[in-house]
Amino acid sequence: MKEDLLIIGAGGHAIVLVDIANKMERFNSIGLIDNQVLKGNVVCGVPVVGSDSDLGSMLDENPNLKVIIGIANNAIRHKIYLRLSGIFKLASFATLIHPSAQIGVETKIGHGVAIMAGSIINSETHVDDFSIVNTRASLDHENYLGAFASAGPNVATGGNVKVGEGSAVEISSTIAHNLTIGENTIIGAGSVVLKNCDSNSVYYGTPAKFIRKK
Ligand SMILES: CC(C)(COP(=O)(O)OP(=O)(O)OC[C@H]1O[C@@H](n2cnc3c(N)ncnc32)[C@H](O)[C@@H]1OP(=O)(O)O)[C@@H](O)C(=O)NCCC(=O)NCCS
Repeated sequence: MKEDLLIIGAGGHAIVLVDIANKMERFNSIGLIDNQVLKGNVVCGVPVVGSDSDLGSMLDENPNLKVIIGIANNAIRHKIYLRLSGIFKLASFATLIHPSAQIGVETKIGHGVAIMAGSIINSETHVDDFSIVNTRASLDHENYLGAFASAGPNVATGGNVKVGEGSAVEISSTIAHNLTIGENTIIGAGSVVLKNCDSNSVYYGTPAKFIRKK
């Protein structure tokens, strides 16, 4: 039997999650939760069923309800998680993996993770809770993608790359093997990273250079 799924958000990231949930055939997307889009609107075939304040009663009615936070911004997703963690236990957060993603052996994928179409998670890579591996991103062997971090569309990493909690590796960036990106750092679009990057910083360019502290 399919599991009922609520998606938090009704924007661009959320509609990609609707598509993945449909294709996985494991979930039944029963609604979107959004504080701005009015209840009753239908987005990609899924109705907006309420706002944050409705979540407690929905869970009371349906204790097996699964939920995923469909917000692409890492810091906002983290804030929403902190709010929802008073309502939902960790096991209630669904992980959505597009059927076209390639998941290697001995990988570990946490709760609340979104893995988009065409992406590759190679052997012994750990994708931690609430992170995003976006369309056609490739994380090679023995990587670690921290909680609330993201690998943007078409990102490629070499082996043994670590990306800290909350960091965003933006669209089409490349990270050479054996490198560490600190926490809450941004690697700007199209960068080629050849050295370790500190936490709480912005880097971009080819090769990527330190630009500023966040
Ligand atoms: C890294 C980033 C956050 C920096 O943003 P910012 O600090 O606001 O930078 P600005 O837009 O003010 O640009 C400042 C200068 O840096 C340049 N710059 C910004 N990002 C750059 C990048 N990734 N590579 C090379 N140059 C860049 C700009 O062209 C601009 O140059 P100029 O002063 O000569 O015009 C942003 O540019 C970026 O890469 N965002 C990624 C967005 C993305 O991937 N979205 C997809 C999500 S799925």
